[in-house]
Amino acid sequence: MRHSSAHRTAPRRIASVAIAAGAVLGLVGTSTGAADAATPAHPSRADRPVIGGSEKPVGSYPFMAALLSKGRGNPHDRQFCGGSLLDSNVVMTAAHCVVDVQPKELETVVGRTVLSKKNQGQLRNVLDVVVHPRYARGQEAYDVAFLLLDKPVTGTAPVNLPTAGTDALIRPGAKATVIGWGNTDTEIPDYPDRLRAVDVPIVSHIECKASYPGYDKKVNVCAGVEGKDSCQGDSGGPLFRKLPGRRGVYQIGIVSYGDGCAAQGAPGVYTYTGSAKLWDTLGESAKGKKLKRLLGR
Ligand code: ARG
Repeated sequence: MRHSSAHRTAPRRIASVAIAAGAVLGLVGTSTGAADAATPAHPSRADRPVIGGSEKPVGSYPFMAALLSKGRGNPHDRQFCGGSLLDSNVVMTAAHCVVDVQPKELETVVGRTVLSKKNQGQLRNVLDVVVHPRYARGQEAYDVAFLLLDKPVTGTAPVNLPTAGTDALIRPGAKATVIGWGNTDTEIPDYPDRLRAVDVPIVSHIECKASYPGYDKKVNVCAGVEGKDSCQGDSGGPLFRKLPGRRGVYQIGIVSYGDGCAAQGAPGVYTYTGSAKLWDTLGESAKGKKLKRLLGR
């Protein structure tokens, strides 16, 4: 976690970092943590999920990936981030999830809904990790990375991406969906075994910049409203839209960071996958250039 100041909230594996970052946040910024605790956005904990979402039947999101640290334990305990299938051999995730991880330290499973069900989905080893070169050079934004899989995922349609350089899919107020196995409760950490989804409205660049000084509208997009948000453990997972009359889904964002979760005035920040600049600058590294060719971008 080199960028714990930018990614104020850490993946759950690094719990001490998350707690430390949270403690710092209590002292600065516009976080409404205390007020939030006093006025829960939801009547009962059972209603609260990603934050504010619901469980989904098996097979609802076949392109969804979980990043697991390799080991013998229950996959539910080994999951630390989300991802999405971008190509039969490529899973896209957040850079901060994998920047300090060796490929052999992780595995990814595509198409699993219940993490502990070992026979669900397709489990893959990771041959290489390609972190966006600008993120690798210390920038806060550009929070995207790609896992190159040891063998293709079969029979599963990858997500679609918006046409680079367009913003038709991120009109403020439009409804998007974010999914993950992240924390469902802002007070008592609670990580579900079953994938959850929540619908979140897109937030304007102006509002988002007001909440986050480091926000870069060229490569980020914000979404969420009080009581509905992604949270720790959702990082790297997809924010997407379903378009009328179109097959599949369009992934518009990658869960990146936020001040706390689901608080008023602190929407979730996502890497914008329709950003021309994001894809252009990926070519600044040799690995990035190769990957762009592989993906036809
Ligand atoms: N950085 C977090 C993670 O590593 C994701 C935080 C998303 N926060 C939010 N409020 N949407 O899991």
